[in-house]
Amino acid sequence: MSRIFVTRKIPEDGINLLQEAGHEVTISTKEGVLTKEELIAELGKESYDAVLCLLTDTIDGEVFDATDAKIFANYAVGYDNIDLEAAKERGVTVTNTPGVLTETVAEYAFSLMLAVAKRIPEADRFTRAGKYDGWAPELLLGSDLKGKTLGILGAGRIGYAMAEKAYRGLGMNIIYNDIKKNEHFENDLAATYKEDIEELFAEADIVSVHVPLLPATKHLVNGVRLAMMKKTAYLINTSRGPVVDEKALVEALKTGQIAGAGLDVYEDEPALAAGLSDLDNVTLTPHIASASVETRGKMSLIAAQNIVAFLNGETPENVVS
Ligand code: DGY
Repeated sequence: MSRIFVTRKIPEDGINLLQEAGHEVTISTKEGVLTKEELIAELGKESYDAVLCLLTDTIDGEVFDATDAKIFANYAVGYDNIDLEAAKERGVTVTNTPGVLTETVAEYAFSLMLAVAKRIPEADRFTRAGKYDGWAPELLLGSDLKGKTLGILGAGRIGYAMAEKAYRGLGMNIIYNDIKKNEHFENDLAATYKEDIEELFAEADIVSVHVPLLPATKHLVNGVRLAMMKKTAYLINTSRGPVVDEKALVEALKTGQIAGAGLDVYEDEPALAAGLSDLDNVTLTPHIASASVETRGKMSLIAAQNIVAFLNGETPENVVS
């Protein structure tokens, strides 16, 4: 029997799997996120063999040093909350939960695109506020998407799934940027590679962000690039907040430099940049792009499977490096 610490309550699928495999599971009883100090204190209370952690946990060398656990299974596809160098130095295995959330996050990005282009959250607020006093020819005019150009930043699995929905479902043209060309984009979606990212910003009617957060992608969407976008264009971000310079985005939305934005992630979560929530042309949601019952359950299972494999002396399926 091994001991596993879970940093916050997650769907029970994975917890059941760990227990059925004969392991003892301790779940943090704190309502919210453990601070790094609290996590270190928790890890010091017992001798743990594995940790199941969340994207809201800061996992660095000090945390690794607080436990004998040699696997940290992140309950997320992203793992920018974990210091991989520090893990490597200490021989700690880190895993994530890719694949299962691809379609869910892409559906969400697609929904945000429709929500902002059709101004649905704004129209909902308007109607609830009792402002609807009869049909009017120019009330809350939105934008059509058929034939428009979707610019995908990051040609990974989620970027592809978003592009596919827009191409097949809405008849949009796809352009994309990544470090290299992607033949699936080219062959399946008639997409055009924009090696020069700035061309993508200038040509797209919608820019949708699907890159991981790395030093090279921090503020990839900055004030200069926002200024290159069409005044009628929208920005969608379901990846990681710091990819977008949020202060610059507030300015671009305020001054009408771009028409609107749909954001599920923020630069300094859960805080929002000053002025962001005052704007009507932005739809804001609380980092829930992967939050379907099905997907969050599968993420829990995969994180647990990674731990079980590791504790059995096997290489887990989703090791990140
Ligand atoms: C992830 O898995 O990285 C997502 O952001 C969680 O919703």
